Amino acid sequence: MKSATLNENPPTESMPKHPDIPRHIAIIMDGNGRWAKERGLPRREGHRAGAESIREVMEACKELGVEYLTLYAFSSENWNRPEDEVQALMNLLDRFLDEQAKELDKQKVRLQAIGQLDRLPQKTRERLEKIMARTAGHRSMTLVLALSYGAREEIVAAAKALAEDALAGKISPAAIDGDAFASRLQTAGIPDPDLLVRTSGELRVSNFLLWQISYAEIVIVKKFWPDFRQGDLFDSVKEYQSRHRRFGAL
Ligand code: IPE
Ligand code: IPE
Ligand code: MG
Repeated sequence: MKSATLNENPPTESMPKHPDIPRHIAIIMDGNGRWAKERGLPRREGHRAGAESIREVMEACKELGVEYLTLYAFSSENWNRPEDEVQALMNLLDRFLDEQAKELDKQKVRLQAIGQLDRLPQKTRERLEKIMARTAGHRSMTLVLALSYGAREEIVAAAKALAEDALAGKISPAAIDGDAFASRLQTAGIPDPDLLVRTSGELRVSNFLLWQISYAEIVIVKKFWPDFRQGDLFDSVKEYQSRHRRFGAL
């Protein structure tokens, strides 16, 4: 039987042309803390090192022609971490946004964000909104940051929106279908992920895109996120290309 996890071998350095490139790749960037611990460093150093992996993955996705890249950067549950770690993550997010402000524009990458953005510090939200507005017209790729994101919260909010629309007479309960529901999720307009990658070997989805990943191919990579390089992304895509997607049919 084929192994469900990758990276027992060194990663490939290049990617042969292949017609089946996932339109949307979603990544659960996990293992920063353990990466740091292995080196006797504070956890925030793992998060700092993880920012370099983000740059590499964005580059690799652009090169492949991936249209959407969604990165799980901070979950609703991550607010429960110690205050100094949350603070370090917010500072890194600010730094990432400052660095990427010009770069995303230059590379014609559109920035979007999903999650409870009103829970972010005001200055972080302002930075984010400014870049989103500035890059809204770009289409070489869309980078979606999941920030203070939880899929259950997103689903509950969509249910609430549907209930309000039904009460206001805008939609009849009988007309509520999958499309009506999906159009009230924060990912409305974004195709569902084709490939879901999780690093650090954990076999769980941790409240990420629960509705949207129904038919995503899942690839678990054993490396910690700060060790994830372009070649690992290429290997994950190759693994995806070796799968036979059936969507419940044959
Ligand atoms: C992923 O790494 C980054 C975030 C969740 C913000 P972790 O911080 O979860 O690192 P581990 O899983 O504890 O090693
Ligand atoms: C998921 O990782 C969240 C992000 C990668 C942002 P966690 O490390 O928070 O998830 P658990 O605690 O292992 O499920
Ligand atoms: Mg983790």
